[in-house]
Amino acid sequence: MRRPLIAGNWKMHGSRGTVRALLTALRDGLDGTDGVDVMVLPPAIYIPDAVRQLDGGPVRVGAQNVADQEQGAFTGEIAADMLTDFGCTHALVGHSERRSLYGESDALVAARFAAAQRHGVTPILCVGETLQERESGATETVVAAQIDAVADVAGREALADAVVAYEPVWAIGTGVSASPEQAQGMHAFIRARLAHHGVSATAVRLLYGGSVKPDSAAELFAQPDIDGALVGGASLKADDFLGIIARAREARVS
Ligand code: 13P
Repeated sequence: MRRPLIAGNWKMHGSRGTVRALLTALRDGLDGTDGVDVMVLPPAIYIPDAVRQLDGGPVRVGAQNVADQEQGAFTGEIAADMLTDFGCTHALVGHSERRSLYGESDALVAARFAAAQRHGVTPILCVGETLQERESGATETVVAAQIDAVADVAGREALADAVVAYEPVWAIGTGVSASPEQAQGMHAFIRARLAHHGVSATAVRLLYGGSVKPDSAAELFAQPDIDGALVGGASLKADDFLGIIARAREARVS
């Protein structure tokens, strides 16, 4: 059985004070993670604070992006080695906001993925289609291309050692989650695409992201190919994030 992962992508929210308060509430509210992995992904500058505050506890700290290069004249980038230096175990690559607002191509995302893995950082590859792509029937083509680019650059076997997050762009920050059936359909497609690349896809964790809330989480986690969530807005409220973690725990035992 795949161990669920609930990851909170804080995006560019918070301050030093609110980070401290949120992590305190999270730590105090978690009564053991009971077979569920929990991770927060703060803005990079708060990673050292978060690692220090969560030291010794079950909550892991990840980054929202990682450089495609090792070291050098790459202003504004953070190398994978620098992340591990501060206790970061995971990094998002290819979040739709990076793709759409900062022009990151499938090829660049794949290079970031490969660089993370070379330095022991587990990539969380974000994939997903826009509303226009869904309405024009291109969803599977788009998502397959996002996965195939990683197989081309990082090697097919690299996909075995990653997490994939399916985040339909139209569901991010809109309050409109994909239905459990829509999400399950795409998760099954992604698992099949990984298998097409020769990856033992039953072992890879697939997260759903896009307006996940405590109320919608149980139905999503009841789907056979959904192994957790990448949570945006609701991860900024301790009660909501804890509620989503509780739903994952219940889904595991039910
Ligand atoms: P929301 O949960 O706010 O829709 O954000 C999802 C997301 O982009 C997580 O990476």
